[in-house]
Amino acid sequence: MEYHPWTSKWLDAVCQLWNEQCGDRFPMRAELLRQNSLDDPHLLPEGSWVAVEEESLRPVGVVIAKRWSEADPVTWGKGTGWIQALLVDRAYRRQGIGAELLKRAESALFQQNVVKISLGSDWWHYFPGVPDEEQETMRWVERRGYIAGKQLFDLISSQEETAEKQPSSSAELPVFADVTFREGKPEDRDALLAFFNRCFPGRWEYEAICYFEKGGTGREYVLAEKNGTMIGFCRINDARSPIIAQNVYWAPLFADELGGIGPLGIDLQERKYGYGRAVVEAGIYFLRQRGIERICIDWTDLVDFYRKLGFEVWKGYRSYSKILNVG
Ligand SMILES: CC(C)(COP(=O)(O)OP(=O)(O)OC[C@H]1O[C@@H](n2cnc3c(N)ncnc32)[C@H](O)[C@@H]1OP(=O)(O)O)[C@@H](O)C(=O)NCCC(=O)NCCS
Repeated sequence: MEYHPWTSKWLDAVCQLWNEQCGDRFPMRAELLRQNSLDDPHLLPEGSWVAVEEESLRPVGVVIAKRWSEADPVTWGKGTGWIQALLVDRAYRRQGIGAELLKRAESALFQQNVVKISLGSDWWHYFPGVPDEEQETMRWVERRGYIAGKQLFDLISSQEETAEKQPSSSAELPVFADVTFREGKPEDRDALLAFFNRCFPGRWEYEAICYFEKGGTGREYVLAEKNGTMIGFCRINDARSPIIAQNVYWAPLFADELGGIGPLGIDLQERKYGYGRAVVEAGIYFLRQRGIERICIDWTDLVDFYRKLGFEVWKGYRSYSKILNVG
């Protein structure tokens, strides 16, 4: 087995490997693989490798590592390293390839002085943890020092299902005396970034900064405003979004268009008044206006909250991390 650094040279072949191994559940697109695993400035090239079969020069395994970078405009994730993906072709398992890939990723992260390594949940992640179907992989990582954390879910709904359970959940915008909901516009950029910086500094702020840098026009954010002041938001995604967003990654599984909802948040001062649920309803409303029936809400443990809006569990994950012994 040869080990080659992960570069764009391997993009198409690794995309094919991914799809052969788990494309029925998580269909990969070269565009998504490039976006999340090559173009992300958090990628750690020294920790990202492709295991290549010597004769055929075919990739049979891959590991992709990431870390927080000094250039980041936010401090979220400082001190953490991530293994975004670790995958070995089924026909080549139990030969030590996974262990070799993991070792290369972990030692490169260790060199970066990270104190904790998480599986998935990276910037521009694929998974918030290890997918539930991968029980063997869970045992495998546990034997290598990773500790299981929260159970997390992706939820899904379609209009027919929602209409049965919640006839009024998306037909109209929610109505409050002093709070309104609308789609964002390009001129909302500065107020939205200031809102994130004040109320949700960190990952969501960073994602909003990147969104506008990539040409976002604001239409992916539903804004909740009280007397003209922003008090909450809900991100909505579809096929026209400038970034392939996490809740529409697996859209190729469906013939019809998939929409995505989340993240969402309400200013701490304004919670417990029903605006959180309302901003989701507004998100559903605007996606329906765009003709989207099927909607995914990713990476959440609030199953009961979203069930009331017609969402059901679609995919499950277990978060995993490992604290490194430093010093
Ligand atoms: C986890 C994963 C990367 C392991 O890959 P692997 O190449 O089989 O890993 P290894 O060969 O290093 O280890 C597997 C076992 O085989 C054993 N092994 C290693 N070399 C061996 C050999 N020559 N002969 C027999 N057994 C061997 C290892 O000791 C290990 O057993 P242990 O866990 O009890 O120590 C692989 O199962 C995988 O790709 N899983 C799916 C990943 C995933 O969830 N992806 C997300 C969806 S796409």
